[in-house]
Amino acid sequence: MWLGRYRDHGGGLFVDLRDRYGLTQIVFNPPDTSAEAIEASKSLRPEYVVQITGNVAARPEGMANTKMATGAIELRATEFKLLNKSLTPPVSPSATEAPGEDLRLKYRYLDLRRPEMQQTMMCRASIIKGMRDYFAGHDFIDIETPVLGRSTPEGARDYLVPSRVHRGAFYALPQSPQLYKQILMIAGYDRYIQVARCFRDEDLRADRQPEFTQLDLEMTFVDTDDIIGIVDGLAAKLAKEELGIDVALPLPRMTYDEAMDRFGHDAPDLRFGLELIDCTDLASEAEFRVFSAVAGSGGRVRGINAKKGTEHYSRRGIDALTKFVADYGAKGLAWFRVEEDGTLNSTIAKNFTPELLAKFGERMNAEPGDLLLFVADKYEVTCKALYALRCKIGKEMELYDPATMNFSWIVEFPMFEYDDEAEASDGKGRWQAMHHPFTAPLEEHLHLLDSDPGKCRAQAYDLVINGSEAGGGTIRIHDADVQQKVFGLLGIDETTAQERFGFLLDALQYGAPPHGGIALGIDRWVMLFGKLDNIRDCIAFPKTQKATDLMTEAPGEVDSKQLRDLNIKVSD
Ligand code: AMO
Ligand code: AMP
Repeated sequence: MWLGRYRDHGGGLFVDLRDRYGLTQIVFNPPDTSAEAIEASKSLRPEYVVQITGNVAARPEGMANTKMATGAIELRATEFKLLNKSLTPPVSPSATEAPGEDLRLKYRYLDLRRPEMQQTMMCRASIIKGMRDYFAGHDFIDIETPVLGRSTPEGARDYLVPSRVHRGAFYALPQSPQLYKQILMIAGYDRYIQVARCFRDEDLRADRQPEFTQLDLEMTFVDTDDIIGIVDGLAAKLAKEELGIDVALPLPRMTYDEAMDRFGHDAPDLRFGLELIDCTDLASEAEFRVFSAVAGSGGRVRGINAKKGTEHYSRRGIDALTKFVADYGAKGLAWFRVEEDGTLNSTIAKNFTPELLAKFGERMNAEPGDLLLFVADKYEVTCKALYALRCKIGKEMELYDPATMNFSWIVEFPMFEYDDEAEASDGKGRWQAMHHPFTAPLEEHLHLLDSDPGKCRAQAYDLVINGSEAGGGTIRIHDADVQQKVFGLLGIDETTAQERFGFLLDALQYGAPPHGGIALGIDRWVMLFGKLDNIRDCIAFPKTQKATDLMTEAPGEVDSKQLRDLNIKVSD
């Protein structure tokens, strides 16, 4: 055990002894402790490792610490043995405030001694055990899939590993076990799970790591309801076990289209309202050019009503919000304060007739004290800017209790996204898979693959917890013709398809059962269950925003012999 805080009270020494089970107060005091041992104990310092022998006793009257699990007792040392010393720790595990993150990551072993980190690591272990137990109880079997393999199509850049034996050839680290788990279904292992490490070389954010862990699963003869049903049960079980929260099942579902219309996001935070309201039709009647021009050119004018927002946001506050939405592409933020008599007031109000303002007020459900905020732009820009604004206001106005957990499903995602850049580069235009190329369309949308792919919706579902995408999956295509058609739309010709996923296409021809699955982002579950802001705090040895490990200094250079063996030359 390590020494934590210590206090010298003249006659004797009080120290906290710390391990991952908590703290225990040790007292070096007569008569239990000899004068010699008291003297020796004065050389003890934080993070020294000691073995202590003594008597456990109730603390004296009035000295109990009710905030501490072991606060009613203390260990009165009779003797102790110093097992090891410590340098002065640059990161103090006993400090109430954690130091800068760079220092914490460099001395991760000290940081991991902090009770907060230990709690998170134990919560992580408990969540993973809860997941494994749950799926084992439902007849799933755990099968490992390779880390050295072929590239998988999750849409990020691959981490590559050069082959020494095959000159110029590379393995790709898996972005997910997607293709292997589909192969396992074809092989008859009908309920598969794996706690799988995934690797994606992409831009990192507070909820994204280059190396992360999924609870990956796949099942045969299932539809969307089956997959959602099994994950619903898991969510309720873990919410109860980890947080003591009762979650009502089934978890609510919303289509992607509805989520974009009502919230402007495909993983909306549903802990509070503040929905987006479309006023494009009213805007087209306005003299205000910003509104009428956008409405007339196929754009949208949408707004949110911050209830009682005028109390919270002064003119300067609104200026700050205007600046904020600019970061999300909005060209401005039109606003109205709702006066005591219910009229809308703003610097731009003169550009609207009183009748039109009244219609805006009615549409926005305006009441005295409300603040109405509008963005006029392309649909996508209004979504992005207003969703960000909604979240900011929700947080600043404390519209939800941070302790709540909101689980929901977003379903029926588009099959494809249009890639404007591809259009610009080769003039052809190109569809990209919104999830991955093996995702099945809704049965009733199959015909749209030919006529209007942009409208085609998929048998795809994402689990959202408090506005974070905590999992995503789809029912897969198991029909070769449909697969061919989808590849066609994605611009993947037959040769490329054979080259990249030939093994899967072959396997699909040997009695492939209908199948589907999902992957849950375990790091994100821990982050959300632990109410943490940063995914790095949920991982024992995470990477920085620049994908480096500050403790081991990976990635690092390798010696020239290794490079020669791999036939690799590094150019300047
Ligand atoms: P998807 O790419 O949606 O689906 O990933 C599933 C879940 O994994 C988590 N996640 C991440 N967590 C941390 N860092 C990252 N870089 C990261 N990327 C993703 C998210 C996400 O919802 N093979 C499919 C699943 C399937 O179709 O069955 C897949 O990987 O929580
Ligand atoms: P301007 O005429 O550019 O001075 O803008 C007048 C008001 O309209 C300001 O409050 C701007 O923030 C707002 N505004 C400008 N462009 C937009 C837009 N695209 N959407 C919403 N409000 C805007």
